[in-house]
Amino acid sequence: MMQTIMIRMSLHFLSALLGVLTILVLIQAQDQSGFISLDCGLPEDVSYSALKTGINYISDSKFIDTGVSKRLGNSEKLSEKLLEYVRSFPSGVRNCYRINVTSGTKYLIRASFYYGNYDNLNQPPQFDLHLGANLWDTVKFTNLSVIKTSEMIYTPSLDYIQLCLVNTGKGTPFISAIELRTLNNDTYVTRSAESVLLEFLRLGLSPNSITNLEYRYKDDVYDRLWFTFQPHAMKQLSASPNNDGLLLENNYKPPAIVMSTAATPVNVSAPLELEWEADNVNDQYYLYLHFNEVEELAANETRAFNITINGEFLYGPMTPRYRSADTILTTTPLTGAARYQVSLSKTKNSTLPPILNAIEVYKVKDFSQSETQQDDVDAIKNIKNAYGVARNWQGDPCGPLKYMWEGLNCSIDGYDPPRITSLNLSSSGLIGQIESSISKLTMLQYLDLSNNSLNGPLPDFLIQLHSLKVLNVGKNKLTGLVPSGLLERSKTKSLSLSVDDTSGLCTTKSCRKKSSHVPLIASISAIIVAILLISLGFWIFRRHKVTSTNSTKRGSLIPKQHAFSYTEILNITDNFKTIIGEGGFGEVYFGTLQNQTQVAVKRLSPSSVQGYKEFQSEAQLLMIVHHRNLIPLIGYCDEDEIKALIYKYMANGNLHQHLLVENTNILKWNERLNIAVDAANGLDYLHNGCKPPIIHRDLKPSNILLDENMHAKIADFGISRSFVNDIDSHISTCPAGTFGYVDPEVQRTGNTNKKNDVYSFGIVLFVLITGRQAIVRTGGENINILEWVIPIIESGDIQNVVDPKLEGEFSINAAWKIVEIAMSCISPNAVERPDMNLILAELKECLSLDMVQRNYGNAGAIDEFVSLATVSETALLAR
Ligand SMILES: *[C@@H]1O[C@H](CO)[C@@H](O)[C@H](O)[C@H]1NC(C)=O
Ligand SMILES: *[C@@H]1O[C@H](CO)[C@@H](O)[C@H](O)[C@H]1NC(C)=O
Ligand SMILES: *[C@@H]1O[C@H](CO)[C@@H](O)[C@H](O)[C@H]1NC(C)=O
Ligand SMILES: *[C@@H]1O[C@H](CO)[C@@H](O)[C@H](O)[C@H]1NC(C)=O
Ligand SMILES: *[C@@H]1O[C@H](CO)[C@@H](O)[C@H](O)[C@H]1NC(C)=O
Ligand SMILES: *[C@@H]1O[C@H](CO)[C@@H](O)[C@H](O)[C@H]1NC(C)=O
Ligand SMILES: *[C@@H]1O[C@H](CO)[C@@H](O)[C@H](O)[C@H]1NC(C)=O
Ligand SMILES: *[C@@H]1O[C@H](CO)[C@@H](O)[C@H](O)[C@H]1NC(C)=O
Ligand SMILES: *[C@@H]1O[C@H](CO)[C@@H](O)[C@H](O)[C@H]1NC(C)=O
Ligand SMILES: *[C@@H]1O[C@H](CO)[C@@H](O)[C@H](O)[C@H]1NC(C)=O
Repeated sequence: MMQTIMIRMSLHFLSALLGVLTILVLIQAQDQSGFISLDCGLPEDVSYSALKTGINYISDSKFIDTGVSKRLGNSEKLSEKLLEYVRSFPSGVRNCYRINVTSGTKYLIRASFYYGNYDNLNQPPQFDLHLGANLWDTVKFTNLSVIKTSEMIYTPSLDYIQLCLVNTGKGTPFISAIELRTLNNDTYVTRSAESVLLEFLRLGLSPNSITNLEYRYKDDVYDRLWFTFQPHAMKQLSASPNNDGLLLENNYKPPAIVMSTAATPVNVSAPLELEWEADNVNDQYYLYLHFNEVEELAANETRAFNITINGEFLYGPMTPRYRSADTILTTTPLTGAARYQVSLSKTKNSTLPPILNAIEVYKVKDFSQSETQQDDVDAIKNIKNAYGVARNWQGDPCGPLKYMWEGLNCSIDGYDPPRITSLNLSSSGLIGQIESSISKLTMLQYLDLSNNSLNGPLPDFLIQLHSLKVLNVGKNKLTGLVPSGLLERSKTKSLSLSVDDTSGLCTTKSCRKKSSHVPLIASISAIIVAILLISLGFWIFRRHKVTSTNSTKRGSLIPKQHAFSYTEILNITDNFKTIIGEGGFGEVYFGTLQNQTQVAVKRLSPSSVQGYKEFQSEAQLLMIVHHRNLIPLIGYCDEDEIKALIYKYMANGNLHQHLLVENTNILKWNERLNIAVDAANGLDYLHNGCKPPIIHRDLKPSNILLDENMHAKIADFGISRSFVNDIDSHISTCPAGTFGYVDPEVQRTGNTNKKNDVYSFGIVLFVLITGRQAIVRTGGENINILEWVIPIIESGDIQNVVDPKLEGEFSINAAWKIVEIAMSCISPNAVERPDMNLILAELKECLSLDMVQRNYGNAGAIDEFVSLATVSETALLAR
């Protein structure tokens, strides 16, 4: 038996007037709180407000760290900015967004996909969309120019959601937009907490309208997409023209504009009928019918009707109220039929035929696969980050089963969240110590870390893994003693322990004995042996220290995470085969780590390193400085033969090459603005995000590197402090810095502070805008860029300031703004120069100024694209 509920506005209002006032307030109070609107692929830090809806979209880059941004080839023809970029996922099977939400709150989640032949393959892909550990939808396109949207109503149980795109071998997944809207908790309630509602159809009945019009925010406070629908054999009833469009709302808040028209049968004695076809007989559906009497009835008129579905009584008699939204809905899902017919028939003494204003149908989807237990997720994420595991570890670690992270196994039973029971990172090129996060995987039974370059001791915290049955740490560079707790367990055979003691890990009587993978077996005099082992271990350690005083740096027990040996450096750089640069500190070589990460190895010339102690402490400090606009330091080598720093390799070289070296690929205006924002962001982090602050001291275009997506990252920060820049010191008398970029005040006093970096940054901005060297050569004379540019600026001739290579392709407003910023940076009075955080904010404003100007040229084609996204494919038939 079907159950229904009628949702009516609670009649607390004393008069209609009061009701109208309240609605007015509600409409004005509409805002975008509870909205998360991501334009996927949009350059980092860019945001804009959509022309038609006023919705504020931001870049998706803070919510995902994989995928590449692609811009549609015909993007100038798109007037809907949202479609201009996509994020595409050429590598990895599963790539996931992680978006913070409020757990326990109901959300409408919408993902949109507009192919637009962005990859020039003329072949739209097909792929899967997952939410957490559950399959949400399969994205496929019937027509190249259709916007595909998937929408669901979901109440997250965690304080984030993971939205994943899964490659199923039918092309590269991509996505255009992700939108989240909070809904009222009391609406769209499903019987089972494990199910979600997928949008099936959502229509406003409007027999007279010509095209499929779309209504959304701000007409709909929840930003649902409504399309007008023209049923046959029905005529339209509309609110009278002098109607102010106001409506007494219920919790579902259907938009007033959609509710202002209704359909009614042409034959006044015939029922109003609509039907849809189920995709599958076992599918379950929830139905929502929205009513509003649009005509003011005379005293002798009545409108009353009964509602049935496939002949079964649902609700009646129903009398829609004048200018009030009422919703009739099913509280148990409809199922078991191939076709559902909704029928509204007038009752015997009703003088008027039935009406219907809007209809929504949702399909139920089972979401019972729970996500992995939160502590396990946090622990494995930490492990992934600490070792930089180069595997496609994305989304939920354990589910869905088919996409369980490679190297893991999980316990999956019933409705309990899965737990990680096995972790196999053997032969994965791991470097550093054994991560303490491993001990947080409390249900772990199998742990295989063999055949890596792990160093340091076998830590005590492994004892906390009470379920551990197998531990394999063989073929590593571990040193020290095996914790006695583990030895005990291996002796009682509750743990199969595989270690090798070639590198000094002491387990058996002789630490020098060469044998790998020794499964330890219980012995009779376990305790005596253990004591013996411990004392032997200490003895060997002491002897080692005494006999090799000048090699204590190597093979000692001092933790040396991310320290590479000379041999390793030789392997990484293939014997220093390829020079990719030459800096003030020495040559830079290309290299490849075991896990295939490409690196730049900066070999410091002996004279540039002040002392071993400072080098090590400085390098270790820089290891912990992480920001997306700073070059990550992966490791260092501090052996006698060589001192080197190992950085992540940046595919697009440095800014100097792009701006100042003959180059066919001219940096575009907005690329320059983005680079300025990136660099400001990195410098702001060094100044204001690090404690104590790090002063760069040598900022210049060749120290601003560009990654594969042309995102800028600052290099060489922090090293000026304990390394002497021997080359530049010949040229200028200052301790660090490059001629043309260094603050004159430093040259005078020799002291450095944040404001000196701000000066250098100002010069970098001028170089970025003008495309000229910091030292301009005119008439055989070297003059500073400022001497050249300031007179032109003062004459108000911005066209002659900006790089002529741009051929006028820039925004004048943004150009003036950036000139203003640069001028403030180079103020002769250091106190007057702004702080980097202010400069960053101003540059971001400059960027949005530019966005607005560039993207809102014409709005003509919006409807063309929107109309393609209608539900014409769903089988809604009218009689
Ligand atoms: C999401 O929440 C986590 C934990 O509260 C926080 O660390 C992270 O920065 C947040 N992410 C974003 C994009 O706001
Ligand atoms: C929805 O329900 C959750 C949990 O019951 C509650 O925390 C949250 O405040 C509710 N939100 C609204 C808008 O009522
Ligand atoms: C794709 O949609 C457009 C616009 O509706 C239409 O003109 C075109 O014929 C469609 N193409 C196919 C192959 O269905
Ligand atoms: C109008 O509807 C009634 C009831 O369905 C039917 O008997 C009648 O024939 C219809 N009249 C016309 C003109 O179709
Ligand atoms: C209702 O009353 C109006 C006059 O006030 C009359 O013209 C109309 O026919 C009546 N309608 C019905 C169904 O009786
Ligand atoms: C409409 O429903 C009412 C209430 O259940 C019932 O008494 C009446 O017979 C129904 N009328 C028609 C025409 O089905
Ligand atoms: C029919 O109309 C009368 C008076 O107009 C009303 O009392 C009665 O409840 C109505 N019957 C139904 C089934 O709506
Ligand atoms: C994962 O564990 C299950 C039992 O929990 C076992 O049946 C299965 O073989 C394991 N899979 C792998 C790849 O080890
Ligand atoms: C870990 O994986 C390697 C191969 O990748 C396999 O040889 C080894 O047996 C696995 N270890 C465990 C504990 O399953
Ligand atoms: C150890 O790892 C290396 C790569 O890291 C691999 O080439 C080698 O085959 C692995 N050895 C074993 C025995 O798995």
